[in-house]
Formats: sequence, C-alpha cells, structure tokens
Amino acid sequence: EARRAGARLGHTVHWLAEVGSTNDVARRLAEAGAPEGTVVVADRQAAGRGRLRRAWWSPPGGLWMSLILRPALPPEHLPLLTLAAAAAVAEAAEGLAGRPVQVKWPNDVLIDDRKVAGILLETVSHPHGAEYVVAGIGVNLDVEGEPVPAELAGRLTWLAREAGRRVTRNELAEAILQRLEERYAQLHQEGPGPVLAAWRSRAAWLGEPVRVALPTGEVAGIALDVAPDGSLVVEQAGGRRQRILAGDVQRLRP
Ligand code: BTN
Repeated sequence: EARRAGARLGHTVHWLAEVGSTNDVARRLAEAGAPEGTVVVADRQAAGRGRLRRAWWSPPGGLWMSLILRPALPPEHLPLLTLAAAAAVAEAAEGLAGRPVQVKWPNDVLIDDRKVAGILLETVSHPHGAEYVVAGIGVNLDVEGEPVPAELAGRLTWLAREAGRRVTRNELAEAILQRLEERYAQLHQEGPGPVLAAWRSRAAWLGEPVRVALPTGEVAGIALDVAPDGSLVVEQAGGRRQRILAGDVQRLRP
C-alpha cells in the first residue's frame, strides 16, 4: 500500500500483481465499504475489460488502475465523469510526454491518432443505498517488446515511446490522480461547463465527417459537439441532428 497523504483520490493505493480486472477488485472493495478515492493498481490483468464488451490488452508495463468514486452529482451529470477522466488523463499524459494529446469521444486518449489510454466507468446503484462509480483507467505506458495483438497493431502507441524516456507507473499515477482530483472537484463545484470545455479543447475530429457504428446500424454525419449529458451530437445530411449515447466513432478520411 502506498499513499498520497491528505488527498481525496489516492489516499490509499493497493498495488497488486496479477488480477482479472482491477475494476472488479475495486468493486469488491467498494461493496465492503472502502471510501471514495481508494485506488487499485495491478501489474497485469488476465481479463481486462474495455468498452462495448471488448477485451482490454493488459500486459506488464501498462498502468492498469481503478478508483472508487462516490460522487455527489445529479444523475444526469454522471456521464460527464467519463469526459472528466479522459481530460485528466490527457492532461497528465501531455505533461509527461511533452507532446499534444487528444481525446476521442467518449473516452479514448490519443497521440497522433494512436490510442495511448482508455477509460471504463462502471456505475453501481443499489435500490436503497449508496451509489458508487468504479473508474477504470488503462494507459499503455511502457509495453515495448510485448507482442501486440494483430487487431491493435498500428492503432496503439505507448507513453514512454512518445515521451522518449522512461516514465514510471508511480509518476504517471500521481499525475493522473492530481489532475482527476481537480476536474472531479470542478465538476461538483462548477457544473459541467469547465469539464466540457476542457474536453472539447482536446477533442480530435469535432467538426469533421464521421461514421458511428451502433447496435442498430450506422450514423454518418459531422461530429458537431459533445452535449451536456455526455452524448455526441452528429449532424446528418439534410441537417438532422442525432445524439449518440454509446457507439464507435470512425473518422471518414477524404
Ligand atoms: C476502453 O478504451 O475500451 C476502456 C479501457 C479501460 C481499461 C482499464 S485498465 C484498468 C481497468 N480495468 C479493466 O478491466 N478495465 C479498465
């Protein structure tokens, strides 16, 4: 166990060797009453999860981290936690890599169009009790030499490579928790505005043509903006605007 003394997030950090998913470990701790800000980090995950029920490649050398949040936010602002986390991870990564870092809706963190980090928030509500959120953050940190699965080849990068130097998990976790603590407090104190603005200012592909794959089909149009409920606003041909709550965005290259 390590600590960030006096901090709201990361006052307690459990460093583990191999787990299935750090999100599941954090969830068990939350159910047992662990306070907000408790963090779980694992060296590797045997069953790391990504969005849309995908597996998440989690070899040694990445930062695989989950934290427990007990937000006091109106339910309609909960989706903004994903954007706050993506902005915080992007800010931390940019500070360490010294390279511009973008976000892609809803939760991808990219350098030069390659994915360096992803975020998976899981909200657990009980009918008569507290609700909590497990925020899972996965950063490809230094995975040099690990065999990259074929479907990810050419689409991912890692922070140490982009930074051109060794970055420790400690250093990265500290930077992320610090930024996230700021954005999290801001969301509580000032509402969605500043978090949306921070996210927008880094948003790759806003204003450009995109195609969104949905379970029910496909939507093509211009990615206009992210709405205060966290959804993506796409303007289709003819001017019809559609809000997308979950899906996979792909840029349409000319
Ligand atoms: C995505 O981009 O699809 C989200 C990836 C989230 C991965 C992190 S790694 C730590 C935490 N544990 C998991 O099983 N997933 C998240």
